[in-house]
Amino acid sequence: MSGANSVNEQRLWQRHADMAKLGGTPKGGVNRQALSPEDAAARNQLAAWAKARGFEVFTDAIGNLFVRRAGTDPQAAPVMSGSHMDSQPTGGRFDGMYGVLAAFEALEALEDAGIRTRRPVLAVAWTNEEGSRFQPGAMGSAVFAHPERLATMLQQKDWEGVLLKDALAETLKAAPAPMRELGFPVASYVEAHIEQGPRLEAAATTIGVVTAIQGSRRYIVTVEGEEAHAGTTPRAARKDAYAAATRLAAALYDATADHDDTLRFTIGRVEVSPGSPNTVPGKAVFTIDMRHPDDTVLADREAAIERLLAEKTAPCTASLEKIGAMPPTDFDPKVIALVRDTAQALGLRHMEMPSGAGHDAMHIASRCPAGMIFVPCERGISHNEIENATPADLAAGTRVLVEVLEALANR
Ligand code: HGY
Ligand code: MN
Ligand code: MN
Repeated sequence: MSGANSVNEQRLWQRHADMAKLGGTPKGGVNRQALSPEDAAARNQLAAWAKARGFEVFTDAIGNLFVRRAGTDPQAAPVMSGSHMDSQPTGGRFDGMYGVLAAFEALEALEDAGIRTRRPVLAVAWTNEEGSRFQPGAMGSAVFAHPERLATMLQQKDWEGVLLKDALAETLKAAPAPMRELGFPVASYVEAHIEQGPRLEAAATTIGVVTAIQGSRRYIVTVEGEEAHAGTTPRAARKDAYAAATRLAAALYDATADHDDTLRFTIGRVEVSPGSPNTVPGKAVFTIDMRHPDDTVLADREAAIERLLAEKTAPCTASLEKIGAMPPTDFDPKVIALVRDTAQALGLRHMEMPSGAGHDAMHIASRCPAGMIFVPCERGISHNEIENATPADLAAGTRVLVEVLEALANR
């Protein structure tokens, strides 16, 4: 357990504080959106820490950032661990960043303990996991797992019309790193993350042994009406796109309200144009984020949404664009068992659980055996500037991670 014993709780906590300054908000959260100057600053900070330890740093065509600790067999496929450094607009300092810093701390702990591994061990920061600026989310890990998707992703635009290709070029210019092949072979992958839900805290348990990630689908609904004068146009003559969008939204909330509160349905962004107080809206656009552990339920609700589109928006018209779909992910039983046995050996309370949130591991699991380690966050709150965790829990999760990585790197 020399790796676990070399995890430095204070160093790990301080790195979170240092990173939280990059895009820090007055309320103590972070706004470090994908491929922003703040994202570039975080990339440079991680690279600087890595180079100071003599680790190799490189990137790939979608901007994923890798830190490599050599193994005794340089030809062996690496073991990898990481998460993301991009955040929600009003995000917390632990979502994603913990997984990157835990992976980096694991490399440092292996180094400090003088532990040699057969396989190289890589820490990774995936590009654009959040998908709040550019759609879809988990983009860097998706392109790593499916390189054929690169061209399409480079053509994505943010809400202001900025091309991802341009934002990526700017970021790689601001945070340069040697370029390596996209989607190289990986032996196994383990991601540490805060739970972003209340279960571990409620169970007074330190380690979540993650078994699966629920399925998710994301859409953009566009309702088209007709701009008109707010003072002169009778209701009967209106094609009010916002009125139609609200009728549709109300019907969708009803259609996705299941009896056991399992389906997750969110309308997170709404745009109404032209956005003038005295012009009847001619267009309304809103996003849908829908999740469930059973993909057939998601398919069934998608059909219900399509049926409601025309029914609820006449005399306006409405379209549904699917911009993301991930079936449920089941993690590798051997990795799950290794995380569980390691937590046990370290004397840490642990429990098996699925993930309600999406993570980069869902894509990497299609390329190699993968798993996740959760630690609690205060009141389960995340995607909120008050997101919080304790130094002790973050370090405990990292002690499990370093032992798991060492075991996998010697298989
Ligand atoms: O949306 C998610 O599940 C992740 O936190 N980005
Ligand atoms: Mn995350
Ligand atoms: Mn998130």
